[in-house]
Amino acid sequence: MSDHLDPEELLRIAVEAASEAGRLLASWRGDERPEVVETKSSPTDVVTEMDRKSEALITSRIRARRPADAVLGEEGGQTSGGAAGGEGEAGPDRVRWVVDPLDGTVNYLYGLHDWAVSIAAEVDGTVVAGVVEVPRRGETFTAAAGRGAWLRRGEATLALRCSAGVPLGQALVGTGFGYDAGRRQVQGEVVAALLPHVRDIRRGGSAAVDLCSVAAGRLDAFYERGLNYWDFAAGGLIAREAGATVGGLAGKAESTSLTVAAGPGLYQQLEAFLGRLNPERDAPRSQERDA
Ligand code: IPD
Ligand code: CA
Ligand code: CA
Repeated sequence: MSDHLDPEELLRIAVEAASEAGRLLASWRGDERPEVVETKSSPTDVVTEMDRKSEALITSRIRARRPADAVLGEEGGQTSGGAAGGEGEAGPDRVRWVVDPLDGTVNYLYGLHDWAVSIAAEVDGTVVAGVVEVPRRGETFTAAAGRGAWLRRGEATLALRCSAGVPLGQALVGTGFGYDAGRRQVQGEVVAALLPHVRDIRRGGSAAVDLCSVAAGRLDAFYERGLNYWDFAAGGLIAREAGATVGGLAGKAESTSLTVAAGPGLYQQLEAFLGRLNPERDAPRSQERDA
């Protein structure tokens, strides 16, 4: 990897862009809800004008520093850099940025504090740097591959370690639910089966924050079916660099089908428990049928 693909340098660019986007999002004071400009997979899967403004700002900051890189953003899809090859290909430096400009849009809309800006940098398809900026908490979570995970709050910077040695029965487990009714039906069945076997369940409302909470030991574990790549690209690296195992079922990598994160021993217990529930399925109930 040449010097200009140093993960720390990519991380600096991500942190600057995330911090600026976080300030932009936080500048909305919450006296009026931001306007919902579109719905996506279901009537409750909303996009606000602020999601779009945040992504436009992040993309412009990345392009100003690294014009040839590809950017995959939740709202804008994948765009190649100026000097890159065809649409959808990584630029000559093989870098792609994966951006969720506002993770936890529903929390944001309701004035709840757990929402974040998530930016990851991939080199040749592997995430090497990630930031999750949580403006209302004044917290910035970062990681660079092989160099640990960090939390900056004000002047303090703390090295992150996930919890260790927590058995499933004592674990505080975070999860989330998708926007599609049929998917939610199964997610509800899975969480109902898990609930009697853990300390408790949390549904925070931002998968990126949840993964950082695993990194910080604020949650012992997290799992969710149906995340998008931009939800877990940065947070997954941060959790992994904090010592967590991040993956899917039966040795598979984390994916849009299922993402699980926990300290190594707990991961095995949770993964085995979830595996018996066949969680990677959706009920044949569509939002359209219910509407
Ligand atoms: C959502 C949040 C939520 C998770 C959903 C995601 P968005 O992202 O991460 O916690 O449960 O699956 O889609 O829509 O707020 O960017
Ligand atoms: Ca998201
Ligand atoms: Ca989003």
